[in-house]
Amino acid sequence: MTSEPLVLGIETSCDETGVGIVRGGTLLADAVASSLDEHARFGGVVPEVASRAHLEAMVPALERASREAGVRLDDVDAVAVTSGPGLAGALLVGVASAKALALGLGKPLFGVNHLAAHVAVDTLEHGPLPQPCIALLVSGGHSSLLLVEDVTQTVTPLGATIDDAAGEAFDKVARLLGLPFPGGPYVDRAARTGDPAYVVFPRGLTSPRDLERHRFDFSFSGLKTAVARWVETREREGQPVPVDDVAAAFQEAVCDVLVRKALDACRTHGVNDLLIGGGVAANSRLRAMAEERCGAAGVRVRVPRPKLCTDNGAMVAALGAQMVARGRTPSGLDLLADSSMPVTVVAR
Ligand code: KG4
Ligand code: ZN
Repeated sequence: MTSEPLVLGIETSCDETGVGIVRGGTLLADAVASSLDEHARFGGVVPEVASRAHLEAMVPALERASREAGVRLDDVDAVAVTSGPGLAGALLVGVASAKALALGLGKPLFGVNHLAAHVAVDTLEHGPLPQPCIALLVSGGHSSLLLVEDVTQTVTPLGATIDDAAGEAFDKVARLLGLPFPGGPYVDRAARTGDPAYVVFPRGLTSPRDLERHRFDFSFSGLKTAVARWVETREREGQPVPVDDVAAAFQEAVCDVLVRKALDACRTHGVNDLLIGGGVAANSRLRAMAEERCGAAGVRVRVPRPKLCTDNGAMVAALGAQMVARGRTPSGLDLLADSSMPVTVVAR
């Protein structure tokens, strides 16, 4: 093996079937097939539908990735796969496929944590990760603040959502406003022409009392309810709902809390690098607000490009490549999918 390992990564924790191939920190292929359209009419991801879609998409995604990368599968030095957290049936498809590949190719297998992979992916865009760094991961399935000392083995959770994930809040509020699923990008777009100060919606878990117990935790369900009440009242009064203004005011409340808490985590832990990942990191206001406030506080912000922020196989391959480079022990073929894998377990 050269010093730059060729690693294939498989991601199936939710509704994206991702197969990525990297050589060290260089991205060679990022094939993603999404079953999102099949879930849209249900307003959320249906686990059984996602698992079946992964089964159908896996082999074509493997073929596409190997073609895009211009490598043969038996050239790869290691196979990495998301072994958790995520939807159990969906994870199983990825883990079983990765085991079959590793066994067939006679290559080591690395089962890795999905959240750590969201952090590791940034190396493909911005080079080696500054460590320690604080990671703010915000998506439809998770909202966490992490202290990352070594993405291949030492990740400490500082806080997480106690109810809805940030992306889930975007999706639910979009629905209230009559916007399509998944709502995040539509709310983002509508908010561009709205007034963020039109209504001041609540900032969850930011009161002095909440901060004592939940300093780095998030809560978005109260905010979602506040938007729902506001919209209902308007409708009851027979008034039109100013969608752009409500979208902007809601988005402002979410971003304000996310950036405030992420900066607080940086200051508390004496860390000057903040990484933002997950689907919600594509939000234009979140990016702008983080740049502005972190810049003023002397904290550098890294946000991977949107395609790398949403779920994909490249992030798994990126973490796998770092595991190989650091000489971490591979998982055995008895690797299990773990739907509630804690973030403290980077690999198993
Ligand atoms: O990371 P991701 O693709 O899948 C999960 O692991 O959940 O994230 C999807 C989430 C959805 O909730 C979607 O509405 C949200 O990310 N999202 C956004 C934006 N683009 C995607 N939220 C806010 N603003 C955006 N521009
Ligand atoms: Zn994710």
